Amino acid sequence: DNDLMEKLVSLSKRRGYVFQSSEIYGGTGSVWDYGPLGVELKRNVKDAWWRAMVHERDDIEGLDAAILMHPKVWEASGHVENFTDPLVECRNCHRRFRVDILLAETGAAEMEAARCPSCGKTGEWTEPRSFNLMFKTFMGPAEDSANVVYLRPETAQGIYVNFLNVQQSARQKIPFGIAQIGKAFRNEITPGNFTFRTREFEQMEMQFFVKPGSDEAFFEQWREARFKWHTDVLGLSPDRLRYHPHEKLAHYASAAGDVEFYFGGTIGDGGWGEIEGIHNRTDFDLKRHQEYSGKRLEYIDPAAGERYIPYIIETSVGADRATLAVLANAYREDVVDGETRVVLSIKPSLAPLKCGVFPLVKKDGMPDRATQIHEDLRRRGIPSFYDEAGAIGRRYRRQDEAGTPFCITVDGETMEQGTVTIRDRDTMEQSRIAQDQIPAFLAERLA
Ligand code: GAP
Repeated sequence: DNDLMEKLVSLSKRRGYVFQSSEIYGGTGSVWDYGPLGVELKRNVKDAWWRAMVHERDDIEGLDAAILMHPKVWEASGHVENFTDPLVECRNCHRRFRVDILLAETGAAEMEAARCPSCGKTGEWTEPRSFNLMFKTFMGPAEDSANVVYLRPETAQGIYVNFLNVQQSARQKIPFGIAQIGKAFRNEITPGNFTFRTREFEQMEMQFFVKPGSDEAFFEQWREARFKWHTDVLGLSPDRLRYHPHEKLAHYASAAGDVEFYFGGTIGDGGWGEIEGIHNRTDFDLKRHQEYSGKRLEYIDPAAGERYIPYIIETSVGADRATLAVLANAYREDVVDGETRVVLSIKPSLAPLKCGVFPLVKKDGMPDRATQIHEDLRRRGIPSFYDEAGAIGRRYRRQDEAGTPFCITVDGETMEQGTVTIRDRDTMEQSRIAQDQIPAFLAERLA
């Protein structure tokens, strides 16, 4: 599994899932661009999350807060003080590394024993110093410290500062949640492993506001609900998922754990990498924002006649990591007629293209009929791809690599009897159905 990431990088470029950012200039450090298929896959992952968290529930509201926030937000949140990583530099080659990642990846028990992954020297490290991961920029024309703002390192704070706006405008009662999808930025010292750890990424975060005392039960509820989402909605194999409780807690949390997926290679702990964190953040955030803003951030319970600062249970999943997990989970190679076939067995509901439509040959009216079928699917909102180039076997292989679950072929029988073949990506089996049955056939399998 060591080279799975390399295979995914190359397949992603070949088929248009993910490209290196600013590739023609040699790339930017750990930033990636989503191509035509990648943008669809990631959007389907985000839509599936939004549906489960917002549209299918009455007790969670959506929000889209700005990336740039008042600089005091990050003092209140603790990020200015605490969002740091211990950093060491190799005295020989001057490359910098995060201490924890270096120790994990080299398997060394202490820094003296750690070999530099870049130049190979052992134990020539500077003293660790802390490095803040937030990107800084300036608001307005004057580049002085008075105008410093940060690119948000998590979307969560936009939810906390809007807690009362949402609660009051949506007339929600506790317990209720606020969900948001958006970009976050971290100046990671040791990024890498394709889109697993990048400097610009997207988070799907939900903050659930509860009465103090009920937080532990809600933490358990969300932990279970979120774990199930990864198997049931993303279709990740249960044997590649585990829940890992944290022993070391972030400055804001009283309990925390991660949903981890087995990517293999050098990711995380022996190939197991975090894709989602679930945290009991207590009343830390709202209390701090109340203190720093001077505004009361209490919930008033009219029925019980009481007011309190709610506790928060947070679920936070990376859209890019979840998308990478879907790709890694889907990647297969099998041998067909002595040739290696690469297949992305993505769940049909998430696949970027749902259907390839091909005329068997470029004559006898077949291209026109296939075009009609393709346009009819497009009108019905089913993403389809028309392809008449090359041998039919090669067209199937291209769609297998793209992760397209079904391919429809128009042949001689279509022209005579109005039936088409539908080929299944995973089994490669073909069945013959009437042309007018295509939409019903697909609708049943794409739900
Ligand atoms: N608000 C809580 C929070 O941000 P986190 O564990 O730091 O918690 C949550 O991040 C999720 O965001 C992670 O599980 C991961 O999926 C994603 N994430 C964090 N840093 C990332 C990075 N550098 N690149 C890609 N995804 C990242």
